[in-house]
Amino acid sequence: MSPGETYKDKKDSLGAADSERKRVSVAEEDYLKIMNELIEYKGFASFSDISHTLGVRRQSARDEINRLINFNLIEKTGKGRYMLTEEGNRRANIFLRKHRVAEILLNRCVGIPWDEVDEQAMGIEHGMTEEIIENTLKRFGSTRCPHGNPIPDVNGNVAIPADIDISPMAGDHEVVFSRVIYESKDILRFLSSIGVYPDSEIKFINDGKYYFETGGKRTEISPDILRAVRFIVIG
Ligand SMILES: [Fe+2]
Repeated sequence: MSPGETYKDKKDSLGAADSERKRVSVAEEDYLKIMNELIEYKGFASFSDISHTLGVRRQSARDEINRLINFNLIEKTGKGRYMLTEEGNRRANIFLRKHRVAEILLNRCVGIPWDEVDEQAMGIEHGMTEEIIENTLKRFGSTRCPHGNPIPDVNGNVAIPADIDISPMAGDHEVVFSRVIYESKDILRFLSSIGVYPDSEIKFINDGKYYFETGGKRTEISPDILRAVRFIVIG
């Protein structure tokens, strides 16, 4: 302790440092996760998409992104375009391990519905320890989150599934739903409303407009939703 500093001063200053570290680390994890999803969905992340998705002001997003650029976790690749560096992507995957296992836990143990579990996991994911993660994976034998996304390993390595964006394919095709790469509440709610989940076998029709046909029922799909999901083509 410095001269004149009381134990309370010391404790207060340590507490402030701890909460600052935690705040920074929580913000960092949230930004890296949303950037990972936006890059997979749109090919890049922008300030407006990040601030809109996280519900923060554009200036706050700008400040945090500049901080992460200084840490070499994010790079600017063009006007308004940001990407994760190799290290940024590795750290995003380490956090996605926590997030996706938190989703399994909430869905399988607590019964949070499929289309709400991504949002609910945001409350607990930062506190997921490796012990909780390993026990959850062992108990349920899962390798994917409820939305089909693979669980990265503890070092941030992840095996990307051999699935595709089917929006460029014309005609009729039998497909198996693989995963939702952009887990927005609206997209999850829509898919749930038509009964389409990972491993669902459906017919995809592209006659200038997009349709999913399942259980004899045909539903038109918007281009934005179609680009947020991946399929394996079987026929
Ligand atoms: Fe998920």
